[in-house]
Amino acid sequence: ELPRFVKIVEVGPRDGLQNEKGNVPTSVKIQLIHKLVGAGLSVVEATSFVSPKWVPQLADAKEVLKGIQQEPGVRYPVLTPNLRGFEAAIAAGAKEIAVFASASESFSKSNINCTIEESLVRYRDVTEAAKKHGLTIRGYVSCVIGCPVEGAIDPSKVAYVAKELYNMGCSEISLGDTTGVGTPGSVVAMLQAVMAFVPLDKIAVHFHDTYGQALANILVSLQMGINVVDSSVSGLGGCPYAKGATGNVATEDVVYMLHGLGIKTNVDLNKLMEAGDYISKELGRPLGSKTATALRKL
Ligand code: HMG
Ligand code: MG
Repeated sequence: ELPRFVKIVEVGPRDGLQNEKGNVPTSVKIQLIHKLVGAGLSVVEATSFVSPKWVPQLADAKEVLKGIQQEPGVRYPVLTPNLRGFEAAIAAGAKEIAVFASASESFSKSNINCTIEESLVRYRDVTEAAKKHGLTIRGYVSCVIGCPVEGAIDPSKVAYVAKELYNMGCSEISLGDTTGVGTPGSVVAMLQAVMAFVPLDKIAVHFHDTYGQALANILVSLQMGINVVDSSVSGLGGCPYAKGATGNVATEDVVYMLHGLGIKTNVDLNKLMEAGDYISKELGRPLGSKTATALRKL
């Protein structure tokens, strides 16, 4: 049985923009977040407090977070790779943070420059500090299906990292198919492995649409009882440390599918498409959502 309500975690302003080469003005990032919240999204990942040497596009994290008019009831998580990022995030008013580990040793090295175990030690410090400040913590696991270097990733590795993040106090574990190689077959096996250690209502799925499998993967995840889905407006994005990976599944396409299934999201598709029009125009890019492209032609 499918869930009646699905919470969408909009990651466009972070995952979507982090790989943009041209400078996206801070004011545009802030406007985009406001438009997404205006469309009814209750969780909008705003930015990352990471090293500007690693992700130059998000060097204005402080200005973005301080520039947002935070609406009551809306969550604006930010990525924090270490204590330094955590401190900068709380100084800028963050109430929710996200730590991001990987199920692949190679990707951990290329993305955060440390081993999986080292990252877990680091994240234990970050989550301890976050708990002291009463912050909510989201935990990501990347490369849950495959890794650009190592190929297929064993589900037991994903389950291990997910369990560690859950045990250190992450209230939601987002499972990221960073390179989009998953199919419903491999996704079900991975989810089964994770569900042995993390309660179902604490699991979110995060699919990149590189191979066109994202909606199918979301549907099987819903069938397994998952009701939190990450997506990116207009399918923006790609990870700077996963070569060739395209954007997240487009939020418009997810909303269209969910509403078609009779599942509530609280998201207004028309307003969401306006946010998609806005950012596509700003980036000088065609619409990245098939639903928006189709509806704009009508
Ligand atoms: P490092 O080079 O090992 O660390 O990077 P370091 O401590 O030597 O620091 C390097 C420089 O950055 C130093 O500056 C630090 O001060 C500075 P310098 O002394 O050379 O002038 N620095 C910082 N500056 C600002 N904020 C900070 C910070 N920390 C250090 N927090 C580090 C290690 C983790 C910092 C780096 O690798 C990094 O920032 N990585 C982030 C990479 C990233 O954001 N990737 C994309 C997000 S993950 C993703 O997209 C996947 C996901 O969507 C799920 C999925 O799709 O699977 C979540
Ligand atoms: Mg991602």
